[in-house]
Amino acid sequence: MSIIKILPITLCTLFLSTLTTFAFHKDQYQPRVPLELLAKLQDQDNPYPATPERIEIGRKIYFGKGLCVTCHSNNGKGVRLPGHSPRDFTDVKWQNLREDGELMWVLKNGSPGTGMPIRVGKVINEEEGWSVIHFIRTFKGK
Ligand code: HEC
Repeated sequence: MSIIKILPITLCTLFLSTLTTFAFHKDQYQPRVPLELLAKLQDQDNPYPATPERIEIGRKIYFGKGLCVTCHSNNGKGVRLPGHSPRDFTDVKWQNLREDGELMWVLKNGSPGTGMPIRVGKVINEEEGWSVIHFIRTFKGK
């Protein structure tokens, strides 16, 4: 094949792969859960009230065995990761958009295509997951 033929094909492939890369990196406000589950998960309440004791349990998990702090950092803004950085938990708009049930889905499934790993069922149990969600809420607007 001559260069005249190969060049357009190469350029097209490059262009398309760039497009899919961007499409894959959704903006931070788009839901992370499968859309068919969204309504159900948004209705799911945190079964534990946000008492100071519960938030303290969540804080210990965040800085301890959940390993959240390694990516999400001390102040919740997150460290820079190649490709897809962690969520900025101080972002008020993001905090107001997401329901606890959606965050629990991410803790159980990770965020596919990103560095966010499965946590609930692997390193922490479900109750600990709900507790750490309460702690993440304390970063709102800091
Ligand atoms: C290895 C790095 C890493 C670790 C460890 C980690 N996260 Fe994440 N987390 C990420 C990345 C990257 C994202 C961004 C994913 C995305 O944009 O979809 C993220 C996103 C999130 C989100 C936002 C999901 C949404 O719906 O927007 C929550 C909540 C979260 N993490 C909680 C936690 C908790 C709680 C822990 C600890 C139990 C934890 N993460 C541990 C990397 C990590």
